[in-house]
Parts: sequence; structure tokens; C-alpha cells
Amino acid sequence: VAVLRDIERRRGFSNRILSEHLERDASMDARDRGLVTHLVYGVLRHRTRLDRQIDARATKPGGIKGEVRELLRVGALELRELGHPPHAAVSEAVRAAQRLAGGGRLRGLIHAVLQGVAEHGAALDDELAAADPVEALTARWSIPAWLATRWVAQLGADAALRRAVALSTPPPIDLRVDLHRTTRDAVCARLEGDHPRAEVEAPAAHPQALRVRRAGDLAYGPLHGEGLVSVQGLAAQQAAIWLAPQAGMRVLDACAGMGTKTQQLAEIMGRRGTIVAADSSEERLEQHEEAARRGSLAVDGLSVHVARGDLTGDVEAVDAGGPYDAVLLDVPCTGLGNLARHPEIRWSRTAADIADRAPLQRALLERCLGRVAPGGRLVYAVCSFAPEEGAQLVGPVAAAAGATVVRERTYTPEDDGTEGFHLAEVRR
Ligand SMILES: C[S@@+](CC[C@H](N)C(=O)[O-])C[C@H]1O[C@@H](n2cnc3c(N)ncnc32)[C@H](O)[C@@H]1O
Repeated sequence: VAVLRDIERRRGFSNRILSEHLERDASMDARDRGLVTHLVYGVLRHRTRLDRQIDARATKPGGIKGEVRELLRVGALELRELGHPPHAAVSEAVRAAQRLAGGGRLRGLIHAVLQGVAEHGAALDDELAAADPVEALTARWSIPAWLATRWVAQLGADAALRRAVALSTPPPIDLRVDLHRTTRDAVCARLEGDHPRAEVEAPAAHPQALRVRRAGDLAYGPLHGEGLVSVQGLAAQQAAIWLAPQAGMRVLDACAGMGTKTQQLAEIMGRRGTIVAADSSEERLEQHEEAARRGSLAVDGLSVHVARGDLTGDVEAVDAGGPYDAVLLDVPCTGLGNLARHPEIRWSRTAADIADRAPLQRALLERCLGRVAPGGRLVYAVCSFAPEEGAQLVGPVAAAAGATVVRERTYTPEDDGTEGFHLAEVRR
């Protein structure tokens, strides 16, 4: 409840706020941390549905706010989504209510509402799901109305529903294995040894990837510390693979952020050549030293230069050496493709955000196409499935620059089981 209140108040990334809280409370063991994580993400993912459940059982739904509402959401989640036994979920919530301000007098309310959800919740879920497509997406699947309306119009009711359902369950943690330094089998064996309850899948179509469930937060694990794996979405892994830079090339990682894809480009190049990793954020670029250490990027034959600047304009450290053989452009975006891993995005984004991002994305693409040597290639990547940020954006900008779109693809949770992502390969 405290974590959920904090996410709402600070409107920040749920994973960062959650890990701040977990770090502060060292008394929790791994299983409790896992449960807290599950509850926080679950409430964010199913919020409207849980509120409908609560409001149907309360005599004065408008008066249920703040911590009391969050506590009821957690209880309703346990009952309707996690399948916890009703007596345990209800009595745990009643007990927790005593610790809230005015707790004693809340016990009756908490008990009555959750008992009602336990008895009548299944029928209400069915009723919510049977509504017209936009209302079903909104109420049963907790997609904000503006997104539900968009998806039904763009994809049709069936695909929109498949997308909403795909986003309703926790996604696996995707790992990219550095195949130049280890093998997928070796990583699998270590994961299974360190995390006996882990479920590890090795997708046939992605030989560099592993999908892991029930192993906790692998971003802090030893495999990550040694740089043998990176935590990276399955679709995001495709950006550098599409670019496929060769050993010895001069490559620009435009909008390099903290360097996940810089490391992957170096791996693909066999750690030979030149990479300029550029971003406008000093804070993100500060992570590159650590990323270089983990990725063993300090080797003879590979030069990695980190450059700060606004890539819509000239940046001396980026442009002084002339054009590039290959450019990876991973533009800033709404992040709508990350709805599964960052469920708070459902509640923090608005329709206006999509239109707001497009001018910067277009300007970055125009300017970075100009940085590609004739005959060279650029891969445009965006972690969003909104057509305005990808499918509708690249073609016209490339055509105006006299460049050719070689291939383009949108990855979606409903069809590919990945995060939403759009990739386009452009040849100059
Ligand atoms: C999608 S993130 C990049 C993620 C990174 N490539 C990775 O794989 O971890 C987009 C990045 O664009 C940067 N950015 C935003 N506006 C920019 C601009 N005008 N010029 C350069 N970088 C910019 C942000 O700081 C952010 O790090």
C-alpha cells in the first residue's frame, strides 16, 4: 500500500520506486519481496477492474480513497487475479487495516467489501468482459479509455482484446546472452543452479535470448554483474541484430542512453571497430564506464567514444570524424510498448503524449540519416506500437532524404509475445 501510494504521488517509474522501498526494508526475504512486487504490479495492471469490483460492493464508493482504496485493491487482486484463498486474503486485509489511520473503524468496511468480492467477483468479471469492445477493454482489462478506443479503431475488436489480454499477465524477464563470451546452455545451467524455482525458456527464433520467470530481479544478479547477460526485451534485442555492423566499421549509437545497445553492437562487431555512443543526458552517459567494464569493452581493436549532445543539431564529438557506416537510432518515445513491464504507463500517459513526441523523433531521424555514409544503413528503433511513432513516421522522412526503407516491422505483445516495438532499416 505504501509503495502504491508513492508511485501515485511521485508519478515515477514503478520499478525504481519499488526497489527504493525494498532496499529500505532489509528484513524481507526473497519470497516476500517477490510477493510485494507481484502485488504492486498487479494492482497497477488491473486497477480499473479492481475498482469496479470494490465499487460494486461498497455502499458509498466515492468515500473510499487513498490508503483504504489501495488496501482494498490489493485484497481484490488477491481474490480475483492471484487465486489466494478468500479467508486468508480477507483476514490479512482486515489485519492490515488496523495499521492505517482510523484503522479500527475500517475493519467492518474492509471485511464487507472483500467478502462481497469473494462471493460475487467472478460474475462481475464476466459481466465486465461481456460489454461492448471499448468498455470491456476499459473495465475488465484496465486499459485507459483513450487507448482502448484507439486500439479498437486501429486493430479491430479481436486484436485489441488479444493485446489487452496479453498485457494482463506479468511478462518474463528477457536476457540477452553475450554469445562471444559464453553459451546459452552455460547461462541456463547457472540460472537453474542459483534459482531452483526459476522457469527458463530458450526461444528457438532468438538464439541469443533467454526468457526467465520466477528468478527475482536478475538485473542485480552475478551473471549481469559479470556482463555475460544483459536484461533487454526480446524485441529491443532485434535493433542491433538488424543493424548487424561488421568488425572494423565506424558505428554511431545515437540515443545510446545507459549503453545496453552499445554493448550489444560491440559484441556483434566482435569487439573490433569504432563506436560513438551519443546521448543528450549526462546522467545516462555516466553509466557507460560501468557498462564498458561489465561488457569487457576495453580491448585493443575497439574504440568506444562517449559523446554528450543534442543529436538534432551538430555535435562536434559526433560529427568531426565524418559519416558512419551504420547508425542505430533508438529514439525517445511514449514507452507505450513497455506497458507490460511498466504497468504505471497505463495511468501516466495521455493521447497528447504521442503527438508531442513525434517532432523530436522526426528531427532525430532526419539529422541522423545525414550522418550515414552513402550506401550505409540506419536502423530506427522505438519501444512503442503507436503508428505515429514508427510505421507512419519513417517512410516519409526517409523518402524526403532520398533514402530507402529496406524493411520495417512492428513487434506486438499479442502476435509476438514481446514488448511493443517498431524497427525500420533505412539505406542511404
Ligand atoms: C529509448 S532511450 C535509449 C535507450 C538506449 N539506447 C538503450 O538501449 O539502453 C532514448 C534516449 O534518447 C535520449 N535523448 C532524448 N532526446 C535526445 C536528443 N535530442 N539528442 C540525443 N539524445 C536524446 C534520452 O536521454 C534517452 O537516453
